[in-house]
Amino acid sequence: MLLGTSMGGARPKAVVEDDEGLWLAKFARADDRWNNARIERAMLTLARHCGIAIPESRIETVGARDVLLVKRFDREKTSTGYRRARMVSGLTLLCAEDTYQSREKWPYVALAEELRRVSFTPKKDATELFRRMCFNALITNIDDHSRNHAIIAWDRDWKLSPAYDLTPANPIGLERRDLAMICGDAGRFANAANLKSQSVHFLLGPEDAGQIVKEMADRIAAGWYAIARAEGVSEADCATIKGAFVYPGFWHAGE
Ligand SMILES: Nc1ncnc2c1ncn2[C@@H]1O[C@H](COP(=O)(O)OP(=O)(O)OP(=O)(O)O)[C@@H](O)[C@H]1O
Ligand SMILES: [Mg+2]
Repeated sequence: MLLGTSMGGARPKAVVEDDEGLWLAKFARADDRWNNARIERAMLTLARHCGIAIPESRIETVGARDVLLVKRFDREKTSTGYRRARMVSGLTLLCAEDTYQSREKWPYVALAEELRRVSFTPKKDATELFRRMCFNALITNIDDHSRNHAIIAWDRDWKLSPAYDLTPANPIGLERRDLAMICGDAGRFANAANLKSQSVHFLLGPEDAGQIVKEMADRIAAGWYAIARAEGVSEADCATIKGAFVYPGFWHAGE
């Protein structure tokens, strides 16, 4: 770990290699309140269940600790070495600064518009970004800052990268939770009406947007527990994070 170059981000990480290629290994932190490796992997599976593109991942147990391995989606093993994709973060796309004050200024809509401008498949990627924004609201992933989104290009054509760093939080408040980025007319409020308020910029009409939100909320409410248990999340950890999923304020009407 001391020798590895950092991939950035807050969690201790290292890039490791096996026969299949390169993986980002995410380790536990002393202040973790739950088994982050298993929960983050469960969130990837839940995201896939909601139609979101995710990288391959697996858990390795080292000593008594679980480590999450996420396959690097910007490198591909070839017979002679590695093929590299170019990658640009949402932060760069928005020409933003990463300070806490500036984080909150940035809207998903601005990211959607930049994405539509640069992506080879603008409609597909704009819908996918809308899904990810809704997913973050539905699992209380309030650390969804612009560095947790990226675009990649293997050749000339840019597209949204697979989703990563999907981590639930469980704040006490049940009425209102805020995403890290502005997600609608009512600011950062992680709420269905707010998420739908600017759907046209994601190239989605109100009906399609409503359908997506409803379908994802249903899948998450009905599926999170079984998926978490199947991924080895303990009963105790499930009880701790339970409140992250489809919190009551998500469905509140208006402000
Ligand atoms: N599967 C992947 N392939 C390639 N690059 C990745 C992958 N997953 C993450 N990254 C890159 O590594 C960085 C750190 O990863 P990640 O966001 O998962 O870590 P973190 O420590 O939890 O971050 P944060 O500080 O946002 O909590 C990301 O911002 C992204 O640029
Ligand atoms: Mg991150």
